[in-house]
Amino acid sequence: MKNIFEAKFLTDFTSTLANMYRLGWDERNGGNLSVMLEEEEVKEYLDINNVLRTIPMGFYAPSLVGKIFIVTGTGKYFKNAQGDPETNVGIFKVAKDGETAELLWGYKDGGKFTSELPAHLMSHIERLKVNPNNRVIMHTHPINILSMTFVHSLDEREFTRTLWRTITECMVVFPDGVGVLPWMICGTNEIGIATAEKMQKFRVVVWAHHGLYGAGNDLDEAFGLIETVEKAAEIYLKIKPFEIQSWITDPQLKEIAKRFDVTYPEGWVED
Ligand code: 13P
Ligand code: ZN
Repeated sequence: MKNIFEAKFLTDFTSTLANMYRLGWDERNGGNLSVMLEEEEVKEYLDINNVLRTIPMGFYAPSLVGKIFIVTGTGKYFKNAQGDPETNVGIFKVAKDGETAELLWGYKDGGKFTSELPAHLMSHIERLKVNPNNRVIMHTHPINILSMTFVHSLDEREFTRTLWRTITECMVVFPDGVGVLPWMICGTNEIGIATAEKMQKFRVVVWAHHGLYGAGNDLDEAFGLIETVEKAAEIYLKIKPFEIQSWITDPQLKEIAKRFDVTYPEGWVED
């Protein structure tokens, strides 16, 4: 068996957490990350039939039975994950009953997966329906997007249009727009269901006064998506106090979509 501490799926995971922390997105234990792994790659490092302990998930995810995930631990600090992955991160398989996690590695101090597991796994389920290559769900608390939810309408079309109009590349990176949820209690099945429902249409879901969720085929894609949304929000907040002399216009948004061959929700760019 190979040394798991050298597994690319683990080192990429913890270096992403370190980058998220470095950017100031994840204070204290803020944020959580999950990646669906391929059984074949995990088998090189772990005996996938050796279950260390079982942890109830608190919801039913039949379509994920047998799937293996690497997930941050609840209450754990992103800044510590690279130095001690075995305590701060865990790898588990969804048991045959669809509602139990079978721990294969990690959560060494007796801990467990993030309190946001419902939002993560329910989002995985919905994204996989629209994109079978989706592997990553990332939740984080970036300062600017979070601040924007205090001063901007939470209407999805308006929120998205503001972001699109601040940086040319936004229409290219998230032509599908961003979903927005009003403030809700976090860590519950309810917010998980609401987030997953938005994930049917969007790869980014903003949680007002809390943070956001992003989805992607790999860690770089999910990270880059959130990075772009966050930068657009930063620019919006920087220009908001001033009289704006020029925005990216609707005809220009259309031109970008045409040039990069992307489709946006009907009616979200004006004629
Ligand atoms: P966890 O520590 O349970 O992952 O929670 C952090 C968080 O961001 C809650 O939304
Ligand atoms: Zn959070």
